[in-house]
Parts: sequence; C-alpha cells; structure tokens
Amino acid sequence: MALVTFSNPEYKDKTVYAVAGSHTETILKIAKENKIPVHHDCQDGECGSCVVRVTSVDDKQRMGYHLTDKEITVLRQLGKLSQEDIERLSLDDMPSEWRLACQMIVRDEDILVEY
Ligand code: FES
Repeated sequence: MALVTFSNPEYKDKTVYAVAGSHTETILKIAKENKIPVHHDCQDGECGSCVVRVTSVDDKQRMGYHLTDKEITVLRQLGKLSQEDIERLSLDDMPSEWRLACQMIVRDEDILVEY
C-alpha cells in the first residue's frame, strides 16, 4: 500500500499521512477523504487549481506516470512544464513532479504531495 504524505508550508504542524487503499484513487480523492484542504474546482483536469508537487519520500526512483493530453495542456498553461520537459519525461519514462491532484492516480509507491 502506498503511503501519501501531504505537506503545506503554511500548515507545517499539520503534515498528514494517508494510505491509498486501491489503485483507483486520485490524490484529490485521498485528500478529501482525509480532510486535507487541497484546492480544487472542476475536478476534471480543466482548471488547474489542484496543482501539486509530487516527489519521492525516500529518494527512490519514482515510477513513470502517463500524463493525459488534458493534464499536459493545463500544466503548460500554468508554466509548470515546458515542451522540453514533456519530451524529456516521455523519452525517459519519468514522472512529472508537477501534477493535477484530480488526475493523478496513486500507485504503489510512497510519495510526498506538497499542496
Ligand atoms: Fe480542476 Fe483539478 S480541480 S484541474
């Protein structure tokens, strides 16, 4: 099971640890279940309000994740990904550290989510 650590610099004392029980849950769903105030609006990968930074908690190599076209478009509009980044991530099968919480399905790895 994946351990998800939610952290926000404004709530330093409120780091929350959550466990993803299945491989169908998005970061946003887990955040809501644990009453973690990750910003969101559309919940459909359109508005970009749920952007989060996702990194490894233990310096392990992260799993590759496929970004949908919709997510790539929004992350580019937010200035989080350049075309060069997208090509590099795709070529090396690497995960993006910037994700939309409503789009990223948590897989079997421990991650730190900064919101
Ligand atoms: Fe709108 Fe995630 S809530 S993109």
